[in-house]
Amino acid sequence: MEPHGKELVIVRLLKEARGGYVSGEAISHRLGISRTAVWKHIQTLRNSGYHVESSPRKGYRLNPSFQPFNAHEIKSLLTTELVGRNLHFRSSVDSTNTLAAALAKDGAPDGTVVVADSQRSGRGRLGRRWHSPEGVNIYTSVVLRPAIPPHEAHHFTFLAGVAVAGAVEEYSKVRPVLKWPNDILVDGRKLGGILTELSSEADRVNFIVVGIGLNVNMDTKRLPDDVSGVATSLKDITGREHSRAEVLAGLYSSLEKWYKRFQKDGFHVVLRRWKEYFGFEGRRIVVKGREVIEGVCMGVDGDGTLVVTLPSGTSRKVVAGDLEVIE
Ligand code: BTN
Repeated sequence: MEPHGKELVIVRLLKEARGGYVSGEAISHRLGISRTAVWKHIQTLRNSGYHVESSPRKGYRLNPSFQPFNAHEIKSLLTTELVGRNLHFRSSVDSTNTLAAALAKDGAPDGTVVVADSQRSGRGRLGRRWHSPEGVNIYTSVVLRPAIPPHEAHHFTFLAGVAVAGAVEEYSKVRPVLKWPNDILVDGRKLGGILTELSSEADRVNFIVVGIGLNVNMDTKRLPDDVSGVATSLKDITGREHSRAEVLAGLYSSLEKWYKRFQKDGFHVVLRRWKEYFGFEGRRIVVKGREVIEGVCMGVDGDGTLVVTLPSGTSRKVVAGDLEVIE
């Protein structure tokens, strides 16, 4: 249930008190409603994800150590014109990518987003799972409808990487590294991942779903063995908790900025920025895809294809796979 009308005024009053209490009487006076009506609205707020505490003598307050993450909170922070204006929030979903694709098939407009507090079957690249616990991270999918031919759809993999890296850098002042094609790394550990999926016809893209998973407040030491040690979170990096709604609003704004730039100036502008974040040029790498290729990473060509020089001196181009550095 989404709060509206009087409930939104109550949220504003509670936020203005910055963790302090606001009496039920003050709220009932401001809104011109009974104390019982105030109590009912508080229940609605609780049901929609706000941690409202109550004290018989002092009144109500927002739990200062809990940052709300719900549709209203996210919408109130949006600065975009397109991305996120049509927003679907779920406390739990199989995969935001699956839901976004279903909505897109039903005609959801360009910039529609799905956000979830948790995913039951979060999907990663190359058929992997994406660990998606509740209450800590961002799981979102964005529906985009660019007028491009299908063979250019993979440009959005790079666009999304640049947008997420830019948003992380702006928000945390920590500069992430992009691992081809678009893992977001900090200190060699994975802060976020992107899964781009496509629906197209022979000559045009119907829609692209850009799925983004970003570890925000996850305690990576408590993770399952296969994820712990290779994952990091904004909390790990900065030593404090962050508002997911704020981070997400920044992410949408960055995505919109790069989407517009792509439409105005073309892919080369995106790729130029992507190369600034790419941290593997000149390193000895192994790429595991359809085949395993070992050599020195020469960067990417103008289409985003990875170029590797083999020990024999010949160059190979790789379109998909998993890159690892050989120490
Ligand atoms: C990767 O393997 O690095 C890509 C991970 C992508 C995870 C995100 S979380 C939101 C969206 N929904 C999914 O099921 N996957 C993507």
